Amino acid sequence: MCGIVGFTGRENALPVLIKGLYSLEYRGYDSAGIAAFTKEGLRVVKTVGRIANLEAKIKEEHEDLTCTCGIGHTRWATHGGPSDRNSHPHLGGSDGKIAVVHNGIIENYKELRERLEAHGYVFQSETDTETVAHLVDYLHTGKQEDLAQTVLAAVSRLRGSYALGVVSMDNPEEIVAARRDNPLVIGLGNGENMIASDITAIIGRTKDYIILDDNEVAIVRPDSVVVMNEFGDRVEKKVQTVTWDMSAAEKGGYEHFMIKEIMEQPKAVAATVHPRVQNDSIVFEENGLTDDRLRDIENIHIIGCGSALHAGMVGKRVIESMCRIRCAAEVASEFRYENPIIGKKDLCIVISQSGETADTLAAMRLAKQAGAFTIAIVNVVSSTIAREADGVLYTWAGPEIAVATTKAYSAQLSALYLISVRIARVRGLISIGDERALSAELQRLPDCIEETLQCKKTMQRIATLYANRSSVFFLGRGLDYAAALEASLKLKEISYVHSEAYAAGELKHGTISLIEEGTLVVALATQPALFEKTVSNIREVVSRGAAVVLVTTDDFTGDESVCQHIVRLPKCLSEFSASLSIIPLQLLAYYIAVERSCDVDKPRNLAKSVTVE
Ligand code: F6R
Repeated sequence: MCGIVGFTGRENALPVLIKGLYSLEYRGYDSAGIAAFTKEGLRVVKTVGRIANLEAKIKEEHEDLTCTCGIGHTRWATHGGPSDRNSHPHLGGSDGKIAVVHNGIIENYKELRERLEAHGYVFQSETDTETVAHLVDYLHTGKQEDLAQTVLAAVSRLRGSYALGVVSMDNPEEIVAARRDNPLVIGLGNGENMIASDITAIIGRTKDYIILDDNEVAIVRPDSVVVMNEFGDRVEKKVQTVTWDMSAAEKGGYEHFMIKEIMEQPKAVAATVHPRVQNDSIVFEENGLTDDRLRDIENIHIIGCGSALHAGMVGKRVIESMCRIRCAAEVASEFRYENPIIGKKDLCIVISQSGETADTLAAMRLAKQAGAFTIAIVNVVSSTIAREADGVLYTWAGPEIAVATTKAYSAQLSALYLISVRIARVRGLISIGDERALSAELQRLPDCIEETLQCKKTMQRIATLYANRSSVFFLGRGLDYAAALEASLKLKEISYVHSEAYAAGELKHGTISLIEEGTLVVALATQPALFEKTVSNIREVVSRGAAVVLVTTDDFTGDESVCQHIVRLPKCLSEFSASLSIIPLQLLAYYIAVERSCDVDKPRNLAKSVTVE
């Protein structure tokens, strides 16, 4: 949610800022801007639209612009719609001496704005961020304090969440960064340093970075980085090194990141599963999921948002059936406010690709506070959720750039299967032989996914036939229902086609009135025990004019003649079938979006990392 980048060094900062903004564009892309130090002072260029618009504007109107220090921002609007005025950076004071970029929400901005207006400050935008710029200017003006001390004083007056990059004309080589509940890393170079919302923006210049923690403030100059805590005391930070290289975050010849990431799923699942299967049993790295703890679990809460929640809904079904422990998949934004019942012997599985989702983080903190053990299934190493959870089970999917998740979702499913098999074994619900068989099935999963991906051409053809539909329904029961929810989300978020997922038996309780001649219904049937039931539900929609695509297994014995298209999945254990059934449906969503000329990797109104409530 909004991307921040800053550079201070000896080279021209402008191309570094623009490149950094391109790599952060997935975080929000309704407007963008930069503030650069020039000989004449701070120059701000900003515009509504994508980074390409900003780049074009700089080329056309600021050809002479070069600088060695500057900050940049790509926005996902919260306060005030997308416009030039509301774009960041925002300037503080009448002389525009201070410039600020911000990710997050300042909750008390109204009250601060009124007080600053009473002191004569004139606001140019509707944003909460401009309040910070004027507040820093107000606290800075006429004082001897350096900028960092002023920022410390300013953030102590803020309620809400922020990652900030602040520059002042008084210190043209310096960027002051601050963070609370929004990610910020500092890239450490040779004679140059950077700030960024995420390491994709720094990896082109350096692999070494430090993570700013909540309430810390950093002073970033070309040859030094100093970090202070909220009391102004210096803090020593651990330097970390990025373990992947630039090519992992590039398209590698594919037209979109999304299709590249769909095709990378066998690799993502293999990297998540293989290191944790040793001698036919599940072995976790040190993550606190000890046998004693797993034996004692009373209830499991799986928490996430969007696709992560859908992965949790698959996990709930697999865990309940394999381990016979009560397990609920909970919407993080609901869980955190509904006074949930959490026991000290409960396990809380928190799922998040980014590891920064505000609601998921808050729900996890609540569960932790209530005494539950929290284990995070996270893709981004050292993200906030990963650092705050009691234990982490990383999904090794590599950087996921497309806003719509695919490979991280698949890796999340496999992490949940690992947990499930481990719990079942520790609690004596499965034998050593069963564990061996399940481990073998898990290790086979990447090959099954690879084989499933061969339906790519078929799904492309089906997509061309139905891309003009205005509404699509996904039906399934049990695990197929959980997978249907994810399939429906994929379609609507990237193609803007209205779609709904229904438990197949539930449609007739009202929603079936929406089925008419030509409505596309995608039915999932991977559970042999439920084949017949699902076929009955397919008949109900077919007799009302629906065209049906059926995703099923080789064992399907029902009447195929009622469906227009059948997609058969390779054989795999039915408990793990959601890992296969989603593949054709990700492809369907992708090709329908392409057919409709949608911006697949950056769907409208969305952002990848949702760091606001
Ligand atoms: C959908 C999608 C979102 C995310 C959700 C949670 O394709 O990507 O629904 O799954 O915003 O994000 P993370 O997993 O980063 O917590």
